[in-house]
Amino acid sequence: MNIQNKIGVIGLGYVGLPLARLFATKYSVVGFDINQARIAELNSGKDSTLEVEDDVLLPVLVKENPFSSSSKGLFCSSKLEDIKDANIYIVTVPTPVDKHNRPDLTPLYKASETVGKVLKKGDIVIYESTVYPGVTEEECIPVLEKVSGLKFNEDFFAGYSPERINPGDKERTVEKILKVTSGSTPEIGKIVDELYKSVIAAGTHLAPTIKVAEASKVIENSQRDINIAFVNELAKIFNLLNIDTHAVLEAAGTKWNFLKFKPGLVGGHCIGVDPFYLAQKAQDVGYYSELILTARRLNDSMGQFVASEVVKTMIKKRINIPDAKVLNLGITFKENCPDVRNTKAADVIKALEDYSIEVTTYDPWANPEEVMHEYGIRSTSSLEDMNEKFDAVVLTVSHNEFLNIDLSHYLKEGGIVYDVKGILEKYDNRL
Ligand SMILES: NC(=O)c1ccc[n+]([C@@H]2O[C@H](COP(=O)([O-])OP(=O)(O)OC[C@H]3O[C@@H](n4cnc5c(N)ncnc54)[C@H](O)[C@@H]3O)[C@@H](O)[C@H]2O)c1
Repeated sequence: MNIQNKIGVIGLGYVGLPLARLFATKYSVVGFDINQARIAELNSGKDSTLEVEDDVLLPVLVKENPFSSSSKGLFCSSKLEDIKDANIYIVTVPTPVDKHNRPDLTPLYKASETVGKVLKKGDIVIYESTVYPGVTEEECIPVLEKVSGLKFNEDFFAGYSPERINPGDKERTVEKILKVTSGSTPEIGKIVDELYKSVIAAGTHLAPTIKVAEASKVIENSQRDINIAFVNELAKIFNLLNIDTHAVLEAAGTKWNFLKFKPGLVGGHCIGVDPFYLAQKAQDVGYYSELILTARRLNDSMGQFVASEVVKTMIKKRINIPDAKVLNLGITFKENCPDVRNTKAADVIKALEDYSIEVTTYDPWANPEEVMHEYGIRSTSSLEDMNEKFDAVVLTVSHNEFLNIDLSHYLKEGGIVYDVKGILEKYDNRL
């Protein structure tokens, strides 16, 4: 592979932007997104997801489409014509579930229609979105064929390479994570693998088929979900037995093959969503996934459970529940990242409000307008003007900023602290 690679990346979110930026250090890249506000912010050198820092993004950004000159660099656009000269398309659009937790492939169909309109002979379309095995070949390729009029594996080819990034993790960035690759024929597999190998310092693993690569990603996240569900179940049991779950896990963790997971809320758009993709596909072929769906149910019940534990702890301290005031620390779905999608901290807040408790939320990472828009929850990103004292402080997300807060400023006399993440050493009430 050489500079002649002209790569169009479709969807410039948490996954697409870091990848487009990385490829742009070597190749001509046009990043395409339907969200014009996103294109405008990226062209100004800002990434609101905070995955790519300004001083990393700015050096690769170019003002003109680099395809015509075959020069390296990243050009961001929401115009279809800007990607028409690409020879490699990489699709990184969302794969959500609908309100019944069924896979919603709409963004993938739409992105495939977009690519289909500009697809040419010899092009390769690589999907990166997390899916169940079969989506690329059975759902996306027919759209590409229909819209382009071209024949799969004769006129154009496909690949699948799942993304493993962990938002907010500044150590394991995209080039430092080994990447699984695959292609629609053995030859295309090698080309796709070489392409990624040329930018991924950690190397690649070429899977034998696209379905193997698709399945490998969805089981990585399902495995994590199941492991967390197990420790969440332990937390429920040990709470009833008045045993500190974290202390139990620390003791058991001294065995060489004990897996180290912590109890907690499982939100976001990956671990809390992807297992439903696999379960749905299993059901399509007549198998009901017991373990995967039980784990999902268990993890989804944790918001309610945390709220009931907080209330019990407050009652034991004789705090009057109706009219009690709680300061909740954290609303993003995970630590040190601004993403609030499918956050389970919202479940804790709603459940506390069901007990007529007034909840104030502080999160230095989240955008208060987005939190209000998504959940109807009022939040603040600064504690500067906070003069109030609370009956309880609940820590739901382990942002680094929370490690150094002096909670005594915000607690009424006799107030309690409940630490869902088990990071506050001074306080005993934890999940
Ligand atoms: N965020 C993660 O941590 C992570 C990690 C690994 C895999 N994934 C998977 O990667 C995929 C993308 O996730 P994400 O977090 O980057 O999503 P995201 O929501 O951050 O970004 C997706 C982008 O695609 C754009 N988009 C949507 N439909 C489009 C279309 N038809 N054409 C062009 N652009 C379109 C959106 O405007 C958005 O900017 C998902 O399948 C997800 O499961 C995500």
